[in-house]
Amino acid sequence: MPKARQGLVLKEDDSRLSEAEIAVHWKEESYHYPRSEFVGQANLTDPSVGERFSEKNFPECFREYADLLTWDTYWTTTLDTSHAPFWKWFVGGRLNVSYNCVDRHLTQYRNKAALIFVSEDEDEPIQTITYQELWLRVNEMAALLRDFAGLKAGDRVTMHMPMTPELPITMLACARLGVIHSVVFGGFSGEACGTRIADSGSRVLITMDGYYRSGKVIDHKANADIAVRKAKEDGQKVEKVLIWNRFRDKPATQTPLVKGRDFIVNDLLKDFRGRRVDPVSMPAEAPLFLMYTSGTTGKPKGCQHSTGGYLAYVTGTSKWIQDIHPTDVYWCMADIGWITGHSYIVYGPLALAATSVIYEGVPTFPDAGRPWRIAERLGVNIFHTSPTSIRMLRKLGPDEPKKYNLQFKCMTTVGEPIEPETWKWYYEEVGRGRAAITDTWWQTENGGFLCSTKPAIDPMKPGSAGPPMPGIYPIIYDEHAKEVPAGSGKAGNICIRNPWPGIFQTIWGDPERFVRNYYTKYNRDKNSKDWRDWPYFAGDGAVWAEDGYLRILGRVDDVINVAGHRLGTKELESACLTVPEVAEAAVVPIADPEKGRVPEIYISLKPGVKASPREVSDKVVHALETVIGKIARPRAVRIVPDMPKTRSGKIMRRVLAAISNQIDYGDITTLANPEVVEQIRVMVQGKEPVVTKTAPEDIRRFGDVT
Ligand code: WTA
Repeated sequence: MPKARQGLVLKEDDSRLSEAEIAVHWKEESYHYPRSEFVGQANLTDPSVGERFSEKNFPECFREYADLLTWDTYWTTTLDTSHAPFWKWFVGGRLNVSYNCVDRHLTQYRNKAALIFVSEDEDEPIQTITYQELWLRVNEMAALLRDFAGLKAGDRVTMHMPMTPELPITMLACARLGVIHSVVFGGFSGEACGTRIADSGSRVLITMDGYYRSGKVIDHKANADIAVRKAKEDGQKVEKVLIWNRFRDKPATQTPLVKGRDFIVNDLLKDFRGRRVDPVSMPAEAPLFLMYTSGTTGKPKGCQHSTGGYLAYVTGTSKWIQDIHPTDVYWCMADIGWITGHSYIVYGPLALAATSVIYEGVPTFPDAGRPWRIAERLGVNIFHTSPTSIRMLRKLGPDEPKKYNLQFKCMTTVGEPIEPETWKWYYEEVGRGRAAITDTWWQTENGGFLCSTKPAIDPMKPGSAGPPMPGIYPIIYDEHAKEVPAGSGKAGNICIRNPWPGIFQTIWGDPERFVRNYYTKYNRDKNSKDWRDWPYFAGDGAVWAEDGYLRILGRVDDVINVAGHRLGTKELESACLTVPEVAEAAVVPIADPEKGRVPEIYISLKPGVKASPREVSDKVVHALETVIGKIARPRAVRIVPDMPKTRSGKIMRRVLAAISNQIDYGDITTLANPEVVEQIRVMVQGKEPVVTKTAPEDIRRFGDVT
């Protein structure tokens, strides 16, 4: 594999790494400066922002974000730390999120596009929803949820929907009532949805009958039946399934309705035409939504986000980093089913009265010019996507952007490190060397960006996410809680020293896990009520350069970042164990030039298995797709005679990861069964050992920290 593809590599002997070495591997260290045309119109151009958001002004500095919102009641305490580390922001304040994202724009922007929906089918007309129309539809849906489904503030509702305007409409309808939504990515399987329904205690599931994916209509209603069954197995009864119809004139599903349980939303809405629902004034700290994500244990965790702090943070960061003005046409190509979509398709942009584009399908359908055609046609001037999508579009259509009249003023990437080679193509071919690029680092737990260049102030450095955001004070620690200073050239675990308004409030139903996973590692005093004693442990490796820019190296825990999507190794392994023939399973990440990382599966079989190896591996792949979804499809399933184990019986994933990634597996003499390692190596690599000297940080450290 060419070095440039491998990402940041560290020396084998220690984790020292100089900026010069980074430059060699990334082959790019120069700064790129924003154009004066961009700076001239940008929202954030005053460099004093650093001073305003410095520690001496914390936490009051975050008033600047909160003041972008319309409050029913102003808050009395900006940050309450009395239940550390359960931070409370803007305490005493009350507001409604749907009012802030819709109603308050009506006087000025009533007939301006709020959402523009682009079907995957290029023959289907583009749908424009104005703020007036959005307001009507959110009100009618809120009335339905309240009066038909019986939902009220504090109830949870699960949504399993594709990328259509009905999804943000339903989310905003929930927010209008103070109902907590839990949106599950549409590509997750019915079972994965069912597990999340049960964990959140949702009585109502909202879905859509089908949608386009790669030119085919997917029957999505079938997943709802599986989800309801799985939720019941896990102890949660779903009373109502509300199903939106994707098409006006044809069914998108062959799956029959269940009488008394399933209802078509489009039919029900006829009874709610013209209905208005007053926005419920919610406390700033009331939960707005749950977003499930993978962690180090098998069970996905429901990250609980707040109303006031979250909305303030995503609005502020959308304004300053994405540079959104009401006159812009903004397109984020993520899925609303992930945190990026919540924060930067729906809540941040709509709070700023933006026009937000929603695209239903895959970016390369019917060809790799599709995103650029959409951008040209709609006059998109702000674009936001992941490095995986950029790599894919570049691979399949390197010259496609040239064919279109692209007018981006700024562009964002998120989700994974972007290597300079890919960055350059994005900058030159897509951005025409004019657009300011921001590489934003953050996580589901964080609500919004933690690290990014301020596009009109800081120069861009390809491959580096950039300095911390205003009001975010990171620190890098080694495993012994010793600070790794900026400019030292060493990598360590990135933490954020302080709370910020977008930080999640807790893990739904599991506050102990919340404290243990994120705050225990570097906590100085568990009884302290001072935020300075509670650094937030992000679970990523990072290097902080002398110029103040951070490079994020990847996960240091058991999470695999596949094409920018988080998958927990334990989740994948328990899916494999649902196959009756499988005795043990171990999942490791392998480096992939397009998707960043992909999972590779090792399994050992129970004695006396009759099925052929082929049959078993097909079953394993099927299990992963059923329990999690197609995004969990592995690169390979390897059936091994035994797993390498410590004397206490722990599977050494680190050794398997080394074999899969062709790096030195190190000392194995302390294993219970060292002989199996060479057998497995030969199976995977062939007789001659293939040893690459270097590997990305997350793979090198895989299995070390749990
Ligand atoms: C990774 C997505 C490098 C990181 C918003 C993090 C990144 C995980 C970047 C969170 C970036 C995200 N550069 N790595 N700009 N952005 N990551 O929760 O490992 O889906 O911990 O949130 O993605 O993924 P999540």
